[in-house]
Amino acid sequence: MHVVSGGSVQMALALKHAALCLMLLPRFLLAAVMLWILDFLCIRKKVLLRMGQGEGGPDDPPVCVSDSNKMFTLESLRAVWYGQKLDFFKAAHVGHSAPNTEVVAVQDRQTLRILDCMRGKSQYADIADSLLVYIEEAHPSDGWVSSDAPYQIPKHRCIEDRLRAAQLMLSEVPGSQVVIDTMDNSSNAAYGAYFERLYILRDQRVVYQGGRGPEGYRISELRDWLEQYRHDLVSSKTAVLHV
Ligand SMILES: *[C@@H]1O[C@H](CO)[C@@H](O)[C@H](O)[C@H]1NC(C)=O
Repeated sequence: MHVVSGGSVQMALALKHAALCLMLLPRFLLAAVMLWILDFLCIRKKVLLRMGQGEGGPDDPPVCVSDSNKMFTLESLRAVWYGQKLDFFKAAHVGHSAPNTEVVAVQDRQTLRILDCMRGKSQYADIADSLLVYIEEAHPSDGWVSSDAPYQIPKHRCIEDRLRAAQLMLSEVPGSQVVIDTMDNSSNAAYGAYFERLYILRDQRVVYQGGRGPEGYRISELRDWLEQYRHDLVSSKTAVLHV
């Protein structure tokens, strides 16, 4: 048997941590510089305008940041680092099996698995079920505050807080299928979801993985994928009829 002493375990952990920091640092610094220059309002206006004119179609609402919003703060840097770390360690990758994490139903508080609670009711209900997993707040009122946030929601301290906030969301879009992440944030971690992210799963595999929101969040990409899928289904059916 190989016995590893406590000292070398600590050493290995420290090395792993250092390696992680080195890998994530360039991306993080770039984001930090971006946030810093976005605090110059004349630059912010230009960047937002350019982003608004980007590839996104009418489905993709432009990223809105009002002038009163400060972008470069300790809390924002913390949030960006956390999001990049989650993205780096996520389990969900295109072509691989979809993590089947635990979630909680908003209405009856039942514990379910993410792959078991997808349901229809979107304009693509004929080809796909849908599910919205509400994770931790991107802009809690006691964290990276956003003056553009429609609600003042502090960080969820317990499952009740998260359920209450998800109820708000459900009341905005009644009838949609909404569940919440558990308090260990396992769905958020598995899917690298923070701040927000879109996925398409098929046969329990990830077939589409959107970019990290807000800048990588593209409803138009999702729509294109689904339209193409529907089109392929129809043409394969037609082919069968021809036989
Ligand atoms: C999950 O997220 C909440 C914030 O909504 C945080 O308070 C909690 O500590 C997180 N849990 C873990 C295990 O990181």
